[in-house]
Amino acid sequence: MWSIVRSFLVTSLVTWTAAGELSFSATAQQRGEDVDISDIEFVPIPPRQHHEHAPPLRVRPRAERDSVSYSGNWCGASQHSTLSDPITNVFGYFTAPSLTLRSNVPAPQFAAAWVGIDGASCKQALLQAGVTTIVNSNGGQSASAWWEWYPDSAYTINGLPVKAGDWISVNITTSSPTSGKVVITNAQRGYMMVLTISNGPRLCGQDAEWIVEDFYDAKGQVALAKFSDVWFEETAAVTSRGRRIGINGAAMVQLQDIDGAIACASSRYDDSTFVVSSP
Ligand SMILES: *[C@@H]1O[C@H](CO)[C@@H](O)[C@H](O)[C@H]1NC(C)=O
Repeated sequence: MWSIVRSFLVTSLVTWTAAGELSFSATAQQRGEDVDISDIEFVPIPPRQHHEHAPPLRVRPRAERDSVSYSGNWCGASQHSTLSDPITNVFGYFTAPSLTLRSNVPAPQFAAAWVGIDGASCKQALLQAGVTTIVNSNGGQSASAWWEWYPDSAYTINGLPVKAGDWISVNITTSSPTSGKVVITNAQRGYMMVLTISNGPRLCGQDAEWIVEDFYDAKGQVALAKFSDVWFEETAAVTSRGRRIGINGAAMVQLQDIDGAIACASSRYDDSTFVVSSP
């Protein structure tokens, strides 16, 4: 059903990566029709350092089964599995962040939302895909989809249609710790892209995440915009033994800014739904 139209070898696109072995191919469909992949551009961006930053994970019990942790750049849910039964699939729907400018903070401002495997307990690698929205000084915003296999590669996907507020799904399935498939859909626009990736940095399969992020770029941490509630739905992960886990018992991660104020809060609704809010 999927025709591989074009295959990219990272070495031909990216000069900043030393490994240079990761390769991927992409196919896409919109409303059932094959999309000409030559209209899609994978624009390499420096690794965004999406793994978790200080303050170090501090966990305290909240509800019976949930725990709360604090992060310097993440807000959302982080679920854990053991190395003996690693996570091989993660899925979630979420809304592409819809932003307004925060006063007293310079523009542009940003928020990213994504789904991924590792990057919390396992800091050596993180396979993830999502959407970043930027809001400019005039209040205009634009969103773009991206994927990244940290620390190796990061790509903005130019040509994948996405607007702030769209319902996006990400489905990541690994076939080994260094290869996998990432399916990104824009449910609202009937769009689906399948990326098949090999020779990625070795995953541990310890964590599954559903995150809104105040990410880092080459200059440091970006300014986090104010955003409408981002809902995550149908959140689920599957382990190598076929065990299905939701977000019951996950660490609900709150983003704490440098002054200790909560810059973004997440609260769990049930095993497969939670909401991330901007105070
Ligand atoms: C995610 O993709 C895998 C592999 O293609 C598939 O088996 C699974 O059903 C998908 N999950 C969802 C929720 O669509």
